[in-house]
Amino acid sequence: MLTALVTGGTSGLGAAFARSLARKGFNLILVARNEDRLREVAEQLAGEHGIHVETMAADLADREHVDRVAQRLADPTQPVDLLVNNAGFSVGTPFLTEDFSPHDMGTDVMCRTVALLSGAAGRSMTQRGTGWIVNIASIAGCVTMGEYSAIKAYVTSMTESLAVELHGTGVQATAVLPGWVRTEFHSRAGIAGSSIPNFMWLNADQVADEALADVARGKVLSIPTLRYKAVYATLHHLPRPAVRWISRQVSGARKREQKA
Ligand SMILES: NC(=O)c1ccc[n+]([C@@H]2O[C@H](COP(=O)([O-])OP(=O)(O)OC[C@H]3O[C@@H](n4cnc5c(N)ncnc54)[C@H](OP(=O)(O)O)[C@@H]3O)[C@@H](O)[C@H]2O)c1
Repeated sequence: MLTALVTGGTSGLGAAFARSLARKGFNLILVARNEDRLREVAEQLAGEHGIHVETMAADLADREHVDRVAQRLADPTQPVDLLVNNAGFSVGTPFLTEDFSPHDMGTDVMCRTVALLSGAAGRSMTQRGTGWIVNIASIAGCVTMGEYSAIKAYVTSMTESLAVELHGTGVQATAVLPGWVRTEFHSRAGIAGSSIPNFMWLNADQVADEALADVARGKVLSIPTLRYKAVYATLHHLPRPAVRWISRQVSGARKREQKA
């Protein structure tokens, strides 16, 4: 039986990846901060799918906690076949703000940890000559809407670079670029999302299923749903001033929504 480790596997997209992998018969290791929720989700998945589910309470902004997860990925006695670097959150703080801590937290969890865990998983997977590393980026990385866009652009670029490094090893890296997905992401960040048209919202289970199908096909970039494939292609062909104009309009709508 194969084993997958999913960071942020207790909510939203991470929980959807965990469910999809459980349906495929993977044993799971779920990583998040909230221990009660980890236990609850693990019991439910183990009960429904007859799989083994391990939990690791870890704050992925804390280097010691991250090292503990990296050690689990490196353990040759209990190999991990698939890693989903999913844990993340919105960083809406402007670059001009004096308190830099939200930026630190964002880059620690969504850049440093993603690269560090990808490396740890990649080292042990290449020794076995097989494995999959799935990093959750975002369509937000194709626009220019603050630190969050910059972070997600990093995840896409880092994963493509990793795929180049892993070429020919039997280990695969995939960046997933979802559009807007209904999860706890927006409410946790105090974003109502009322300015986002209904048809642009995606279902987390659909995104996870499509992304894992792309992983099985060996894709390095996965953009779930036709809607967002079209958005991705458009953003990549537009001149950069047009991309910045769109970014200003969407950021403006979000600011007006927050004031209302
Ligand atoms: N929702 C969207 O529209 C959307 C679109 C594109 C990409 N994404 C990306 O998808 C990923 C998952 O987001 P989501 O929408 O599913 O959000 P979510 O429902 O809020 O889930 C976030 C998960 O990450 C965990 N997490 C957050 N901070 C953590 C930390 N410091 N250490 C360990 N675990 C942490 C949370 O558990 P604990 O709080 O218990 O730690 C939770 O399990 C993120 O990388 C996000 O950027 C989301």
